[in-house]
Amino acid sequence: MIVVFLGPPGAGKGTQAQRLVEEKGFIHISTGDLLREAVRKGTELGKKAKEYMDRGELVPDDLIVAMIKEKLPKEGNVILDGFPRTVAQAEALDRMLQNMGKRVDAVVLFDVPDEVVIERLSGRRIDPKTGKVYHIKYNPPPEGVEVIQRDDDREEVIRKRLEVYRKQTAPLIEYYKERNLLKVLDATLPPEEVYKQLLQVLGL
Ligand code: AP5
Repeated sequence: MIVVFLGPPGAGKGTQAQRLVEEKGFIHISTGDLLREAVRKGTELGKKAKEYMDRGELVPDDLIVAMIKEKLPKEGNVILDGFPRTVAQAEALDRMLQNMGKRVDAVVLFDVPDEVVIERLSGRRIDPKTGKVYHIKYNPPPEGVEVIQRDDDREEVIRKRLEVYRKQTAPLIEYYKERNLLKVLDATLPPEEVYKQLLQVLGL
């Protein structure tokens, strides 16, 4: 099963993906995580991607599509988190999957307003050792766990990411609605409630 997670930054896509991995054995492919890893390792891709990411802009489609081609597993249930993010990426994904005899099975839209996104992202903290995601108010890290803040979780960059989402990614809502694949979640609810909706729309 190939599931795409769609939604604005901070909607809770990574949080729910983490749970589907732990409880249902999904493979989580997050283009944001892959790019941050490339930046950390200082690879050619990482060097090119960093300037876009720090500005809150999208990394060019050709770099992203090449990266996904390399990482897309041949077997298993897969969550694509943060990809596709443009219509060109969605078309490239359709072609890639067609060549593998597969297709996108469901697209889950995490619906949440801007005010909630800003509050969630400004309070987000990450454990750099495990990659686990926390929130200073909604899901505080356990005592003794040292956490960091992402470089792009500053308010001016968050606003830019929201603008980019509206202009470049939101057109995918129509793209997948036309293909009868779109499932919408109320992502303003607590994580437990969002997870229940997620299982329901995926028939799990
Ligand atoms: P990426 O890493 O994909 O960032 P994003 O889409 O902006 O998503 P986030 O990781 O910010 O949010 P999330 O929805 O996963 O929320 P989370 O679960 O952490 O992309 C970063 C950059 O990489 C992009 O700007 C771009 O430059 C580049 N990039 C990536 N993919 C690309 C692509 N395909 N093409 C081009 N460029 C690309 O939750 C947020 C916070 O809220 C956490 O603190 C969490 O604890 C809390 N929280 C979660 N759920 C709830 C809840 N239900 N209630 C209360 N709090 C909650």
